[in-house]
Amino acid sequence: MIATDGPRRDTWTLKTALRPDFYAYFPRFSPEELDARLDRLPFCRATLLTEWNIRRARAAHPAAERGFAQFVGSAAREQRHRLADVLSSVGISARTAAAVAAVPRHRYVPARSQHMAYLNVHVPTGTGSCLTPPGLVAVMLDLLGCDSGETVVEFGAGSGYHLACAAHIVGSRGRAVGVDLRFPRGSSRTPVSAGLVRGDVAAAPLRPGCADAVYATCFTRRPADTLAHLIRAGGRVQFAGPITASEFGAEPHRSWLRSTFTDHRSYLATEPQRFACLRTWVKPVSEELALRHSLYDVSFVPEARPNSPSPDIRKPRLT
Ligand SMILES: C[S@@+](CC[C@H](N)C(=O)[O-])C[C@H]1O[C@@H](n2cnc3c(N)ncnc32)[C@H](O)[C@@H]1O
Repeated sequence: MIATDGPRRDTWTLKTALRPDFYAYFPRFSPEELDARLDRLPFCRATLLTEWNIRRARAAHPAAERGFAQFVGSAAREQRHRLADVLSSVGISARTAAAVAAVPRHRYVPARSQHMAYLNVHVPTGTGSCLTPPGLVAVMLDLLGCDSGETVVEFGAGSGYHLACAAHIVGSRGRAVGVDLRFPRGSSRTPVSAGLVRGDVAAAPLRPGCADAVYATCFTRRPADTLAHLIRAGGRVQFAGPITASEFGAEPHRSWLRSTFTDHRSYLATEPQRFACLRTWVKPVSEELALRHSLYDVSFVPEARPNSPSPDIRKPRLT
């Protein structure tokens, strides 16, 4: 669907009938494309470090297994810079890629999952939750559009990684505040410009008008305006909720979404957080929020946590 070629961009084809959205940033390659890419690109560029592509490549290609082992065996700094390079290659802004290149993600990842720190995958925290994949963190930061000197609040800050990237962008003149029901060990590694508050997104335990931008990294069915009072005029609110009935109805009949779920009700009854819509609103001078952007088919940890299985990628086989 998208074919770009140039000195720094890879060529890809989208393999989903769902609206492109998330896959426009991080496509799943067909086996043939993956073969071709592995022939001519280094492992991280060939797979874009995404779970789907990594699993396929490792299952089918002994050379990919070596590429994977080499990648996860290299120094953390090198992996981080290669991840930032992958993100730039799919169109992530220089400012956000610089934050990804600067924040040591491995320090936010549990010891047993260190080999997953710089892959573009969910990393289980061992507490029933996970770290958001860095690709989604980067997409969200780009869509939120923070500037140096701003105050930004994250609900569901968890490990603190996403918040640390936001703190890097707002810089030492700005402020980043993370709210969560409970923080896993390691969250204290967030930078000094970031503060952590224990609380529930439902209670929004902060002063009205305290922030330029508010985002939630837990999936919620609440409407965006329950957080709107926290931002100043001109500020932004971003969070993920279920795809609405009219959005569902607007999908082509043969789309992945409509062929997976018989109707909107069955979609809602299954696991909407796994196929969520990430929306970003802007608050004009009036109190009403205006939708600026919506991005389909991103997966989130639900607000109330059932014991959903955590994704995991096994360590490389050492030869
Ligand atoms: C996907 S994790 C967030 C990952 C985090 N952004 C990171 O960079 O590692 C979702 C987080 O939302 C939190 N959470 C779930 N329900 C919540 C609620 N009602 N209020 C606040 N936080 C909540 C969980 O404790 C969990 O840490």
